[in-house]
Amino acid sequence: MEIRGKSAVCTIMTGASIGELGDYCGSKKTVIVTDGTVNRLHGGLFPPYEVIEIGTGEELKALPAIETLYEAFLQWGLDRSSLVIGIGGGIVCDVTGFAASTYLRGIPFAFVPTTLLAQVDASVGGKNGVNYKGYKNLIGTFSQPQFVLCDYSLLATLPGPELRNGFAEVIKQAAIGDRTFFSFLETEREKALALDGATIDEVVRASLAVKVRIVSADERETGERRKLNFGHTLGHALEKTMGIRHGEAVSIGMVAAARLSEAKGMVTKDDVARIERLLAHFGLPRTMIIDREAVIDAIKKDKKRVGEEIHFVLLEGIGNARVTAITIEELKGVLDDLCEYR
Ligand SMILES: NC(=O)c1ccc[n+]([C@@H]2O[C@H](COP(=O)([O-])OP(=O)(O)OC[C@H]3O[C@@H](n4cnc5c(N)ncnc54)[C@H](O)[C@@H]3O)[C@@H](O)[C@H]2O)c1
Repeated sequence: MEIRGKSAVCTIMTGASIGELGDYCGSKKTVIVTDGTVNRLHGGLFPPYEVIEIGTGEELKALPAIETLYEAFLQWGLDRSSLVIGIGGGIVCDVTGFAASTYLRGIPFAFVPTTLLAQVDASVGGKNGVNYKGYKNLIGTFSQPQFVLCDYSLLATLPGPELRNGFAEVIKQAAIGDRTFFSFLETEREKALALDGATIDEVVRASLAVKVRIVSADERETGERRKLNFGHTLGHALEKTMGIRHGEAVSIGMVAAARLSEAKGMVTKDDVARIERLLAHFGLPRTMIIDREAVIDAIKKDKKRVGEEIHFVLLEGIGNARVTAITIEELKGVLDDLCEYR
């Protein structure tokens, strides 16, 4: 698979092996950025390049980590003929991609995503961002990695909650872009959760196909790409205010968006039930007890908000999405239907 971006062409290698990584780096001066957990579990498989370890957690995705990387790049004398490889989850990918795409106005970088979420989503698309003053991904670049190498064997060590986070994004890609893939997930869910080889290959490829199609049509998020935010406007607000995991928050966000789509006559009751059932099968929540005012406040702060309306991604049947402006009042209505309040 390939994304032909403005800055570079990104080649995505699915079902590849981290053992081949050295073959793609040639004689370039190469350094690896990873986190402590990934280094401990999989560092033995890395090719023999310099390794810089960053910490873990969303708080790390901020400017101090970027400065640490700039200092290391400077110390190692990296230039535009060098290559920086981020090996890790979405946080390693975002931090590595942002540092590399701003250092010397951009040096080449690549990713070996090690979480399901990073394989199907964060490593692909060329958005590299960090958080700032409580705003998620407020500072960032659009810059394509040279390549993304997905080795499914790395997923075997993922804790269950991290796997479920990834499946929330998988279900999102199916819901917005591929009805057949959605049905596949319904029938093959046990094998998918067990990371069966052929099944996970189909899961990663089909998810990526949706993202690649959307990003190729709109690399810089002026329209089509916003569809990838399905479930995320409410999801980000829940994640921030209620301290739940990204996948759980996006799951509830998708249910809200699906129900709002039903209220607008865009999807059938049956389709909404299918979405809720599939999320439940993958161990993802559909409702929760929330602090409504805090959640609404966080949505109002969302950078995708325009005036009193917010860009919300709704479904037009499973496999098709449309970005629509909705009012805060409409959103409150669906929260009343979905959540209990503290
Ligand atoms: N740039 C984008 O387009 C984009 C898209 C989606 C998400 N994201 C970002 O991705 C981030 C979330 O990514 P994530 O869910 O991968 O989180 P993460 O990078 O924090 O990884 C989750 C945890 O799993 C550990 N881990 C990673 N690989 C492992 C493995 N193979 N075995 C065991 N443990 C492993 C990590 O050390 C970490 O503790 C968020 O910051 C989000 O904003 C970015």
